Amino acid sequence: MTPIRKAIFPVAGLGTRFLPATKAMPKEMLPVVDRPLIQHVVDEAREAGIEHFIFVTGRNKAVIEDHFDRQFELEVTLKERNRQSDLKLLSGDLPEAGTASFTRQQSPLGLGHAVWCARELVGNEPFALLLPDVLVQHTPGCLKQMMDVYAGLGGKANVIAVEEVPPERIHMYGVVGVGAQKGKSFAITGMVEKPPREKAPSNLIITGRYILQPEIFGILETQTGGAGGEIQITDAMITLAKSQAFHGLKFDGKSFDCGSKIGFLAANVAYALERPDLAPAFRAELKKLLG
Ligand code: G1P
Repeated sequence: MTPIRKAIFPVAGLGTRFLPATKAMPKEMLPVVDRPLIQHVVDEAREAGIEHFIFVTGRNKAVIEDHFDRQFELEVTLKERNRQSDLKLLSGDLPEAGTASFTRQQSPLGLGHAVWCARELVGNEPFALLLPDVLVQHTPGCLKQMMDVYAGLGGKANVIAVEEVPPERIHMYGVVGVGAQKGKSFAITGMVEKPPREKAPSNLIITGRYILQPEIFGILETQTGGAGGEIQITDAMITLAKSQAFHGLKFDGKSFDCGSKIGFLAANVAYALERPDLAPAFRAELKKLLG
């Protein structure tokens, strides 16, 4: 089985739900505690063994590229001040030279189109796709859990992370149909993007982590607009599922939809409560606030 070495991060979205915070700053740079959202997701990919990080960006997103580069003046200042732990933190986060690539989605035509924009950088090999709006809090991370499942599958397999949501949220996501269980994963029998609740095949939604075969690119090439008029990755996966197996994994861990304000705020609280340096004082503050 071909190993998964590359991951795509679609980061071209406008982030209008977070205005005015995202007027001049990409939503992916909003911090969850003290790491930008995108850094959390890159951390997850790295833990899973990803070697090459492909960012599909857009206009006004140059700061993301800067974030994954050296900050020379800052390093000099930190050295002068002998701030060794900060220097170590920065160098630990830095991708090795040549392992981060950036390409632009020139028009906002949908998630499927964003993925297609990375086709030349991915080439003819399976890859991971991580949506930076979604954080999953767990060790090992969601993608690592998916990699372990993928390693046990034969042939050209695709793996999608799924989770249960209450009925009133189903229409906001891609939804999968559930077939036979095989070990930790199950066969996906169908997929539909943002169905009305009564037409959904289950209450299991696509969480924003995928392992996909490169044949998806050829399908995306001619994919027309789906839900919301956008070129949807889910529609391309439905076509690919006619010739390749799709497996769903109910991952361990709690997910946060950081594309919504409540999800983003909850992620900040949850991640702060996991930090030994912050948790005791933060818990005390929360108690006071909550009365
Ligand atoms: C996208 C996918 C959808 C998935 C969701 C997860 O939708 O199209 O299938 O369930 O991400 O967050 P979006 O949130 O971009 O509308």
